[in-house]
Amino acid sequence: MNTREKICKLKQEKDVVVLAHYYVDQEVQKLADFVGDSYALAKKAAETEQKNILFAGVSFMGESAKLLNPGKHVYILDQTAGCPMADMVTAEQVKEAREKYPEAAVVCYVNSNAAVKAESDVCVTSSNAVRVVEKLKQKQIYFIPDQHLAHFVAEMLPEKEFIYHDGYCPTHQKIDRESLLAAKAKHPEALVLSHPECAKEILELSDYAGSTAEIISYAKKCEAEEYIIATETGVFYQLEDENPQKKFYPVIDCQVCPDMKKNTLSRLEYALEHIGTKDLPEIELDEKTMEQAKQPLMQMLKLAR
Ligand code: 13P
Ligand code: SF4
Repeated sequence: MNTREKICKLKQEKDVVVLAHYYVDQEVQKLADFVGDSYALAKKAAETEQKNILFAGVSFMGESAKLLNPGKHVYILDQTAGCPMADMVTAEQVKEAREKYPEAAVVCYVNSNAAVKAESDVCVTSSNAVRVVEKLKQKQIYFIPDQHLAHFVAEMLPEKEFIYHDGYCPTHQKIDRESLLAAKAKHPEALVLSHPECAKEILELSDYAGSTAEIISYAKKCEAEEYIIATETGVFYQLEDENPQKKFYPVIDCQVCPDMKKNTLSRLEYALEHIGTKDLPEIELDEKTMEQAKQPLMQMLKLAR
């Protein structure tokens, strides 16, 4: 039996659904039951029927799946896969900001830990942030933790008053203006598609900014033949697979999230073999955090509809 057959057999025998983010290893994307951006993955996790959810992504994604579907057993492929941006904001900081800005809505990027979500009013992802924030009754918005996504949303919604956190994604932060200008000079016909986690100077030079799923869908619909992609290189698998006649270039060589890349084929195999044993601990959150952190996620699903 080859690895693919073994993985399919284990999924069925153990009643597991494998959900994967576009940034993980392409071999894992190929064997997942569903691949998506953070918003699509959250919706999928909320409605899954299998007893076990195995997440190929990072810890906040597994936590969100548990919050949205608490009756299921939720696992991530590698317990050490976290998100450095999520760790840049603490629940304490949110409590302090609430005292300082009592009128503000606390809008929490889904790239955050459950304890921080528990102190927030609503969650957003990069694909629904504008839509969700627009619907909030509060004028003042305290947006955590991603400063770049916050600026991107603020530009679209000038009627709102933003208070910014200083968080950022180290992977997208590495994509710099000089390298983008050099890539544009090398590929003058290429359109630039960027993720809103990139800095403003990158978005200003871009033809389009959107979530991973939105970038993939834009490239599919657009007639241009060449694209410079300013986000994690995991998206290249879907981009090239869906558009074999088009060309995709990264801005820099190291557009790689080390945590997402912990989701390898051998980890997937290991996780499926050990699901339900002490060698693959499931995601557990205390009852109070579960109750409180679920609310902003549910609110997001309601407002983003
Ligand atoms: P999206 O898939 O929602 O665009 O998120 C990008 C990201 O950084 C996930 O960690
Ligand atoms: Fe976090 Fe950035 Fe990695 Fe996404 S790409 S998981 S935001 S560090």
